Amino acid sequence: MTAERKFRRKATATSSFGTAGRISHDASKFYASKLYDGLRTKKGVDRAENAISAGLLNRIFLKSSESMEDLPDCSVHLMVTSPPYNVTKEYDDQLTLDEYRALLRRVFRETYRVLVDGGRACINVANLGRKPYIPLHSYVIQDMHEIGFQMRGEIIWDKGASASPSTAWGSWRSASNPTLRDVHEYILIFSKGSYSRHKGEKENTIGRDQFLEYTKSVWTFPAERAKKIGHPAPFPVELPRRLIELYTFKGDVVLDPFCGGGSSCVAAVLAGRKYLGYEIKDQYVELAEKRIASVLQGEPLKAKKGGKHKREGNKGKVSGLE
Ligand SMILES: C[S@@+](CC[C@H](N)C(=O)[O-])C[C@H]1O[C@@H](n2cnc3c(N)ncnc32)[C@H](O)[C@@H]1O
Repeated sequence: MTAERKFRRKATATSSFGTAGRISHDASKFYASKLYDGLRTKKGVDRAENAISAGLLNRIFLKSSESMEDLPDCSVHLMVTSPPYNVTKEYDDQLTLDEYRALLRRVFRETYRVLVDGGRACINVANLGRKPYIPLHSYVIQDMHEIGFQMRGEIIWDKGASASPSTAWGSWRSASNPTLRDVHEYILIFSKGSYSRHKGEKENTIGRDQFLEYTKSVWTFPAERAKKIGHPAPFPVELPRRLIELYTFKGDVVLDPFCGGGSSCVAAVLAGRKYLGYEIKDQYVELAEKRIASVLQGEPLKAKKGGKHKREGNKGKVSGLE
């Protein structure tokens, strides 16, 4: 008997008392339970993908992503985005909650169309207000299910020290009316059709330690400074970078339908993936293109005070990753 065989442990299965660990876990009993009635995935997936013509790849379209007619059905492998929050930031329209949800539904329905079978959609969202608290993340989950997406999981992004300065705690040391201060945001993860993707000849790029870390449901890294990037609400490049490494193969196509300053596109370029962006403000398209060009040249963009960018000859380092 080889040492490897001697130490092989018995596979676990769903049991009434739970299982201490999970080794080649057989969860068929759990998924056959009544809890999953109506939630099981249909068998017989269509893995056909349509190629996007080279002229349309690695581009940011200056238009609304409510209609992405430039892109064929089943052509994109991953969507990573952070929607406008409709909270009177300079790019926000003033929409009612219903109008706002309808806008997101139009964009995510288009996303569903362009994603390949097994394609993933990752949405970074924060909840809003206190009186009452608006649980945007739960509305987004509800709407994504209605569109046909299946949820894979939810990451709590702990913004750590970068989120701490708020003193909006309500009544100080009194039960009269203390209020919670959110130091987290959500990253909601969905699949279209199949949960798995076929690797074929494609290449994974994620390392062992990264995989162990990124498959945990709490991520901790700081938020990005708006002034540094020159956009009112950028997410750090670290956020799309992790999702791209975890959910795509090298050479895959990554879409951000609310592209802003292009952080997802920058992350895609860094990871050797192709990018597509949609953005309605021309100054942000310009900003995103500058940041991407800078990365391609190995020259990070550094912001001066006041949000204006200047080039620095610091080869190999990338703005947003330092
Ligand atoms: C939260 S920001 C995205 C920031 C981006 N993740 C970054 O790191 O820079 C949302 C962006 O969506 C854009 N936007 C709003 N409505 C849009 C629409 N219908 N189509 C495309 N972009 C839109 C806004 O102008 C804004 O730049």
